[in-house]
Amino acid sequence: MPLKHLIRSAVGRKLFMAATGFILFGFVVAHLLGNLSIYLGADGINAYARHLHQLEPLLWVFRLGLLAAVGLHVLFGIILTLENRSARPVAYKRKKHPRSSLAGRTMIYSGLLLATFIGLHLLHFTFRTIGPQIEMLNGDMPNVFRMIVDSFRQAGYALTYVAAMTVLFFHISHGFASLFQTSGINNEVTLPWLGRLSRTVAIILAAGFVSIPVLIFFGLVIK
Ligand code: HEM
Repeated sequence: MPLKHLIRSAVGRKLFMAATGFILFGFVVAHLLGNLSIYLGADGINAYARHLHQLEPLLWVFRLGLLAAVGLHVLFGIILTLENRSARPVAYKRKKHPRSSLAGRTMIYSGLLLATFIGLHLLHFTFRTIGPQIEMLNGDMPNVFRMIVDSFRQAGYALTYVAAMTVLFFHISHGFASLFQTSGINNEVTLPWLGRLSRTVAIILAAGFVSIPVLIFFGLVIK
């Protein structure tokens, strides 16, 4: 089917959501694995960051792809939400949702909160316009270990990240299951299992991310 028709059809738009969601999920898993190298100490995470930056200009191709995936995911998410709302112009008198979860009903809000977090996060660690003063190692390579540790020793940053990771948990706990529903690999028997799997995956990812600001804040990751 040509791209134009795909974007114009409701199913096509859902497929776009699923495809971009899958890319972003892959990034989140890879990013967590990279970030966990902080537990190897300053040398571990700084070596990881150095290797990553040595991949330039490939890194920029990857970053632009990621930006496009985020942009399309947000755009189609807003369009789908507006379409769902206009399909039901009169709200239900009594809102009962026997089969839908809180995470499922609030996807647009958790998604927009995450997009806001990503904006702040880029200002914090990528562009380094907010946060504590940065020590440079050589050239334009910051001391990534100190940058993260110095930030999360401050309650404001630690709490903001813990809150954002809680939102991430909600978004993935529904989004992961949606991926499979859109692709059709699901039925009445597998549905409850998929819900459980989705929540487990979301807990593992969110807990992995949350451990970093929490352990640093309580002084368990030493400079
Ligand atoms: C404790 C949690 C996190 C830590 C410590 C962390 C750390 C970092 C650092 C150090 C960078 C800069 C990489 C560099 O340019 O050298 C970065 C970039 C980035 N992070 Fe995170 N991150 C966390 C959570 C997240 C989450 C949950 C998301 C997405 C939902 C995310 C999305 C991104 C994106 C999109 C970039 C830009 C990638 C790039 O510049 O190539 N991060 N993060």
